Amino acid sequence: MKLNDQLDHLRKLRAEARLGGGQQRIDKQHEKGVMTARERIDLLLDKGSFEEFDMFKAHRCREFGMEKQVFPGDGVVTGHGTIDGRIVYVFAQDFTVLGGSLSETFSEKICKVMDMAMKNGAPVIGLNDSGGARIQEGIESLAGYTEIFQRNVMASGVVPQLSAIFGPCAGGAVYSPALTDFIVMVQNQSYMFLTGPKVVKAVTHEDVTTEALGGAAMHASRSGVSDYAATSGADAIDYVKKLLSFLPQNNMESPPAVPSEDPGNRPSIELNSILPENTNAAYDMKEVILQTVDNRDFLEVKASFAPNLIVGFARYNGMSVGIVANQPAHLSGVLDIDSSVKGARFVRFCDCFNIPVVTFVDVPGFMPGTAQEYGGVIRNGAKILYAYAEATIPKVTVITRKAYGGAYCVMSSKHLRGDLNYAWPSAEIAVMGAKGAVGVLYGREAKKADNPAAYLVEKEKEYQDYVANPYVAAQRGYIDDIIEPSLTRGRIVKALELLRNKRDTNPMKKHGNIPL
Ligand code: HXC
Repeated sequence: MKLNDQLDHLRKLRAEARLGGGQQRIDKQHEKGVMTARERIDLLLDKGSFEEFDMFKAHRCREFGMEKQVFPGDGVVTGHGTIDGRIVYVFAQDFTVLGGSLSETFSEKICKVMDMAMKNGAPVIGLNDSGGARIQEGIESLAGYTEIFQRNVMASGVVPQLSAIFGPCAGGAVYSPALTDFIVMVQNQSYMFLTGPKVVKAVTHEDVTTEALGGAAMHASRSGVSDYAATSGADAIDYVKKLLSFLPQNNMESPPAVPSEDPGNRPSIELNSILPENTNAAYDMKEVILQTVDNRDFLEVKASFAPNLIVGFARYNGMSVGIVANQPAHLSGVLDIDSSVKGARFVRFCDCFNIPVVTFVDVPGFMPGTAQEYGGVIRNGAKILYAYAEATIPKVTVITRKAYGGAYCVMSSKHLRGDLNYAWPSAEIAVMGAKGAVGVLYGREAKKADNPAAYLVEKEKEYQDYVANPYVAAQRGYIDDIIEPSLTRGRIVKALELLRNKRDTNPMKKHGNIPL
């Protein structure tokens, strides 16, 4: 065969492989209003940057008539490319080939890109759309999944792993995305569950729809499995790209710095009047974040799950940071089981990848009650404490208002190796609120008083005047400075610059034992 013929042959084979399960099935995807695996990759990567591996790899199954159903590439498109010029490894499950079901060879393809990503220190992005284990292959498929799980765990904390779910993701298949750093789902298009509505009906007699059981909205707001419920496939891809822009390529690098036109010392006069007069009234902590970060640009993560704690990424003078903030506008910003777990996971992620954490504190304490105690608020609340305590990244804290009790301790306090801890003059740092404290300290005396109620009110005022300020903490050095709210951005920028070369270590150990 002449070279030209050989090239024609190669091009023909490539064209066939690019069709996946065939034009008809591609049309079916489009009729459903969803993209194909290759279209998703095209949208994700810089134009023309994608290089594919294993385009001709085929399964070896010969049972159940599978010898007649061989598709080059076997249902997953893998390779590498760039996003904003930075290398990423990618795999996209192709629903047009046997429902994107995972075979032994399918798994080998994914493992290959994961291994390369680990060796070369670049993120792995998985675009999921699959009917799960390829039923015809049985145990080989299970083995294939487990090989991926093992790699997910090995890659955890070494390279960022991001998952986007565009269709079904069911059974044990959910555990690969679950082991990755972030999961993005698409509303009314993707779903994740261990067992579908039919099995649920048979086992628990519950009637539930696919969307209610495992849809994007449910996972983004109730289970916390998903970090973002996208409005479309394109929106999901956009979110993945934005997330990546804040992250380093691997755990040996610092996050990318972006030139910023927003002056580092820009004051925000609005912050001087953002707190309501009534110290128990709500205000929106998101506005404090937006006022201080570069260009009001804040990418929130898990926005609808445990909204009493805000987490997400932003930049200060071009420096990438993770932000954790109590949200007084939801449940008074109280810490509970879900918000503790949310915060802990986020802080640990930032610590894995050398991303400084800026913490805004306005927290009345941990949530009391049987629901929380029975649910293990002790075990779960300990997670956020553990995460801050073990983190060696730069930690900058700003207490805007309340920092009470255990919640003061856990929110990146000085005692958990907080590097720079600031408070606004409005800060109230104390072991508990005035009412509770006075009840304990003066309850007996109050009974003896002529007017017990008036006596308690007076004592509350005394206590409030003594503790409802940041000066006691500042006298002890637990607060490095009391700052004017309007100057918060400038102080954070300076703090981050100061801490740029921070080095801190933990004792050598195999790994700690975070209360799970
Ligand atoms: C082989 C599969 C498949 C699978 C779908 N297909 N899932 N082939 N193994 N797991 C094939 C279908 O036969 C069909 O082939 C094509 O993919 C498209 O599927 P449809 O059913 O026509 O599509 P749709 O109506 O959109 O339904 C999608 C679906 C459904 C909900 C995902 O296909 C489904 O329920 N599949 C089975 C899901 C499942 O039970 N998987 C195993 C879970 S256990 P044709 O040729 O007709 O186009 C598991 C364990 C993992 O995953 C454990 C890891 C530890």
